[in-house]
Amino acid sequence: MIQVAVFGYGTVGSGVVEVIEKNKNEIGKKAGDEIRIKYILDLKEFPDDPYKDKIVKDVELILNDPEVDIICETMGGLEPAYTFSKRALMSGKSVCTSNKELVAAHGPKLLKIAKDNKCNYLFEASVGGGIPIIRPLNYSLTAERIQAVTGILNGTTNYILTKMDKDGAGFEEVLREAQEKGYAERNPAADVEGYDACRKIAILSSLMIGKNVKYEEIYTEGITKITAEDFKYAALLGKSIKLLAQSRETDKGYVAMVAPFMIDKEHPLYSVTGVYNAIFIQSNMLGNSMYYGRGAGKLPTASAVVSDIVDCARHIGKTITCIWEQEDVKLADVKESSRRFFVRVGEGSEETVKELFGNREFLRVIEGEFGFVTDEMTEKEFERKAEALSDLITRIRMEA
Ligand code: NDP
Ligand code: HSE
Repeated sequence: MIQVAVFGYGTVGSGVVEVIEKNKNEIGKKAGDEIRIKYILDLKEFPDDPYKDKIVKDVELILNDPEVDIICETMGGLEPAYTFSKRALMSGKSVCTSNKELVAAHGPKLLKIAKDNKCNYLFEASVGGGIPIIRPLNYSLTAERIQAVTGILNGTTNYILTKMDKDGAGFEEVLREAQEKGYAERNPAADVEGYDACRKIAILSSLMIGKNVKYEEIYTEGITKITAEDFKYAALLGKSIKLLAQSRETDKGYVAMVAPFMIDKEHPLYSVTGVYNAIFIQSNMLGNSMYYGRGAGKLPTASAVVSDIVDCARHIGKTITCIWEQEDVKLADVKESSRRFFVRVGEGSEETVKELFGNREFLRVIEGEFGFVTDEMTEKEFERKAEALSDLITRIRMEA
């Protein structure tokens, strides 16, 4: 029997218990042994919970119990999750987590501790919720040189943007819905300001490169400035607006960023709506491949955590190879990367726009202003030209 302790009995943690109970037989067969929850760690009271006998408040009881083989860390945050995970790994207990904040901050250190102690630190649920993406990168795409990873990596913001696009709904109202559905982070800024997607693209970029991409160095812009008016222009252009997280190999090095982009109907990520996430990978032998599914929510995320528990159970005493060295990657400057931009400016700026950007088609959807699309240029060049546009309303990057 493989004994598991769940740290944090919230949305994901309670989902892990539910998945293990509901699919007990399938999971046992696939793991090669029965998987049993021995403890659930949480500080709250759960008087009516069917698993109340397993709930404990003292982490020492679990860390000092030699019968516990695997910890499932679904508490979130950096501390005490980091200390608890480190101590568990140091005592040879494998750790499976959905905590992308911790993985992005300390992933390579925890992987090294796991290796030194012949156990595993697995984090499938940390990116894309229930979508298998860490395992494909770590196992299936090992023959590839990966040139670019572009993802819709945050369920909350994709849910918000989809509702704004399709129903013309207001930002605050849809954010509340996403929170009620258990998709959102405790601090909504983590989702809407792009910080969560930033952690996730840092993890994917690190696995793509094999070295550490520091999330602090990734240019990050959220969706708080996107309005219903922007979607009117997007519709006119046959496009939608998505929060994309991207990492790309260029001749200047790797460029990584998170920002809202207009994407075309023909783009594989266009039809990824609601809480769904997808990761579009361009690699040199396979070509394009895409990984799609529910990016947040209790059971999809818990399913990914439990798949890691099964992997740990299959590898007791052995460490699964994961190439993510502690050495930091020096990212190329985003300002040097090139793309087209959609721009909105006040009525009366037509001549200035022509002087700066050449002859453009002017799009008219809203009174008192117009929109246009630039040619491809570097971010630096666009910023320089945009400074000369005194009544610039907004600009949105365009994904090729
Ligand atoms: P929740 O807030 O629902 O659950 C976390 C639980 O852990 C809460 O019950 C919390 O208790 C408990 N907890 C926090 N600190 C401690 C502690 N020191 N000791 C014991 N228990 C503690 O969060 P989620 O389940 O939504 O998220 C968990 C992690 O999974 C986060 O890292 C999140 O980013 C990630 N994630 C979430 C997804 C989702 O769809 N919700 C999807 C993918 C990843 P209390 O409430 O009292 O603080
Ligand atoms: N808040 C996150 C999201 C949870 O909305 O995608 C999944 O990581």
